[in-house]
Amino acid sequence: MDYIIETHDLVKRFGKFTAVDGLSLKVPRGSIYGFVGPNGAGKTTTMRILTTLTRPTSGEAWVAGHNVVQDRRAVRRAIGYMPDEFGVYDDLRVWEYLDFFAACYDIPEGQRRQLTNDLLELVDLTHRRNDMVDKLSRGMKQRLSLARTLAHDPQILILDEPASGLDPRARIEIRELMVELANMGKTIFFSTHILADVENICTDVGIIEAGKMIMQGSMSEMKAQMMPHREIIVTVKDNETAEKVVQLVNEMQDIISVVILDPKGGRARVRIDFAGDDEGVAAINQKLNKADILIYSFQEEMRDLESLFMGVTKGIVT
Ligand SMILES: Nc1ncnc2c1ncn2[C@@H]1O[C@H](COP(=O)(O)OP(=O)(O)OP(=O)(O)O)[C@@H](O)[C@H]1O
Ligand SMILES: [Mg+2]
Repeated sequence: MDYIIETHDLVKRFGKFTAVDGLSLKVPRGSIYGFVGPNGAGKTTTMRILTTLTRPTSGEAWVAGHNVVQDRRAVRRAIGYMPDEFGVYDDLRVWEYLDFFAACYDIPEGQRRQLTNDLLELVDLTHRRNDMVDKLSRGMKQRLSLARTLAHDPQILILDEPASGLDPRARIEIRELMVELANMGKTIFFSTHILADVENICTDVGIIEAGKMIMQGSMSEMKAQMMPHREIIVTVKDNETAEKVVQLVNEMQDIISVVILDPKGGRARVRIDFAGDDEGVAAINQKLNKADILIYSFQEEMRDLESLFMGVTKGIVT
């Protein structure tokens, strides 16, 4: 596996306090990696080490193959960083703001107008080009801040809570923008408290608590861990049909148990505990259809990321 960000036993102490405690991070190239953890877990501190803003107490970290302590300039060229605070550039116009950051990255003056226009187009702020930055809504400021991280066309984006404090629409806009940037080939490493965002767009997830990585892996691995077995509720017409379902399903593979539940809304229900994968779920559905059983509903009871998160951050892997 090709990891574009990697750390080994990273430690950061502030006096006696250990904010990052032996963290080993693996971010695959091209991934959208969600870095999740409660307040004070060490997310921002980790990001500040990766962006060369603070030095680790011990351990090592590489970004795009460059060591964050020994090769800081190369690391900075490879990344775009969006801190959790917007900063204090309120007395600039939107285009001036981008122009300023492009200049910081040594983009020649002759190219900056085109670049600024392209970035504004990308984050859908072309119509606010000449407005003062402090007149923008929080969602717009967040998009402008994201545009700024792109000025030098970095391969990696490190975004600290890009969706915090946004309303649902603005959050979805930021989310869509992140997916668009990933489609452009960028790797996105972002911290968040919003588990719905993680479930919707991430390819990879790491859960951190008290400076330690509790769980890390691809979204599909995490989902498999979350669902050691799956629960399917099938609703049919009556008890007679339910018994037929029990009989048919019992003959199948990976079935843990099949039981008839109390009826609900005048309909009979069967609960299937199942240890198979998506194809297995489809096979159950197909088998019932082929036997001409009229299915009123076929529902998988999902254990979501939220319940996993609540479980692991209490130190209990459920
Ligand atoms: N410069 C510092 N000096 C002392 N302690 C610090 C410093 N920076 C961070 N900390 C402490 O380190 C811990 C981790 O902080 P950090 O900001 O990395 O957490 P976080 O996961 O980003 O939290 P949040 O979700 O609230 O943003 C906190 O207890 C914080 O108080
Ligand atoms: Mg933080």
